[in-house]
Amino acid sequence: VSLTQYYTATTLDGFIADPDNSLDWLFTRKREPDGPMNYGDFILGIGAMAMGSTTYEWILDHEFADKDPAEWKWPYDIPCWVFTHRQLAVVPTARIEFTRANIATVHKEMVDAAGDRNVWIVGGGDLAGQFADVGLLDEVIVMVAPVTLGGGAPLLPRRIELRLDEVGQNADFVAAKFSVVRAPARE
Ligand SMILES: NC(=O)c1ccc[n+]([C@@H]2O[C@H](COP(=O)([O-])OP(=O)(O)OC[C@H]3O[C@@H](n4cnc5c(N)ncnc54)[C@H](OP(=O)(O)O)[C@@H]3O)[C@@H](O)[C@H]2O)c1
Repeated sequence: VSLTQYYTATTLDGFIADPDNSLDWLFTRKREPDGPMNYGDFILGIGAMAMGSTTYEWILDHEFADKDPAEWKWPYDIPCWVFTHRQLAVVPTARIEFTRANIATVHKEMVDAAGDRNVWIVGGGDLAGQFADVGLLDEVIVMVAPVTLGGGAPLLPRRIELRLDEVGQNADFVAAKFSVVRAPARE
């Protein structure tokens, strides 16, 4: 069965981007490509991904800033669902579906597309929370950078009970994997 995983880098005080949507606090830190919970191993297990429109537009701004739209090359081969109520710029040939459908409906499409691989919720935090709200988030995997920001985009703006499954050091980062603890079903 596919697991639905929220895998992200975060600051120690729980922000995944600074108030200007910058990730400069992240890219200046060292990560070991073969270290605990590294991205390379993680992405091999992923068969479908989802993100919110802020994250999507951040990727467009940073990957393609000075290129012609015809030359945009989306960095992922796996199918991606982008949640938005707006009409966003399209990346030619990318396997991207824009959606505002309900989370459970999209999740089912993602699981079907993922086959025996997992589903990655890229972010932001509220989108991961929306999957958790309907009982469809299984794991939270964080790479904690040694920095605090005091503000920015929140890691997970909800109360969610978690169980710590695994922890390690990856160069500058604390790598931690949690499973989501679901409330027992009521009679
Ligand atoms: N540290 C990391 O590794 C990491 C990982 C991921 C993201 N980031 C960064 O973190 C920041 C996240 O920003 P964010 O918290 O604003 O989140 P986001 O999830 O990327 O975008 C939020 C937007 O997505 C749309 N949306 C969300 N839920 C929806 C739903 N159910 N149906 C339809 N549309 C929905 C809405 O925009 P519309 O107006 O389009 O409807 C909403 O304003 C970004 O700067 C991103 O680059 C960092």
